[in-house]
Amino acid sequence: MLDALKKSVARAALDYIPKNSIIGIGSGSTIKFFIKELSTISRYIKGAVSSSCISEKWLNTYNIPVIDLNTLDSLDIYIDSADRVNYSMEMIKGGGGALTREKIIASVSKKFLCIVDKSKYIPKFDNFPIPVEVIPMATRSVSREIKKLGGIPQYRKNFITDNGNNIIDIYNLCIKNPVNLEKHINNIPGIVSVGLFCNRKADLLLVSYIDGVKIIS
Ligand code: 5RP
Repeated sequence: MLDALKKSVARAALDYIPKNSIIGIGSGSTIKFFIKELSTISRYIKGAVSSSCISEKWLNTYNIPVIDLNTLDSLDIYIDSADRVNYSMEMIKGGGGALTREKIIASVSKKFLCIVDKSKYIPKFDNFPIPVEVIPMATRSVSREIKKLGGIPQYRKNFITDNGNNIIDIYNLCIKNPVNLEKHINNIPGIVSVGLFCNRKADLLLVSYIDGVKIIS
């Protein structure tokens, strides 16, 4: 059921791909479906910048050229999913641990198109944990800082990011002001990035329901 919704929103995203463009590509199971859909129109695009090793592998599988972000100044569009999106189009991302590269690509993209199934679109952030990517030597010091904020840090076991770092998932955080909280957590020494995408949020959102895809801007 969820897979069917992920597939339908992935297909709907094709309508937003500019011809001859280079597209930023996110990570995760929804994006896996999207890359498959993208392969059907790959002759109309120049290629894609990937946010993870696994997305790069899928792009290679479908012979979609993978382009180094360092060769570009900006991207027309970034397409990615999220773990949660609230009614202000702010997101929690990083369930798959690719948050840092996703944030970099989002920051240089003119448009962020977020594609989710209905289960992730909620009025306000719920208790979904907020991931942070952490330099390994700082896992203890960062955990202490998180506790000071009222959060419960949980080290993600057996997981190393594409950048060679750790992930700590923060439970139980009271999110009153997501924009400020993102800035505050980003400033903790040792944190590479936080999975709150509120300062650079989605510009356009596609949400799939059983009876179709809703466009929210
Ligand atoms: C990865 C992400 C993903 O977009 C998020 O976890 C959603 O994944 P899925 O499409 O598998 O539900 O942020 O870092």
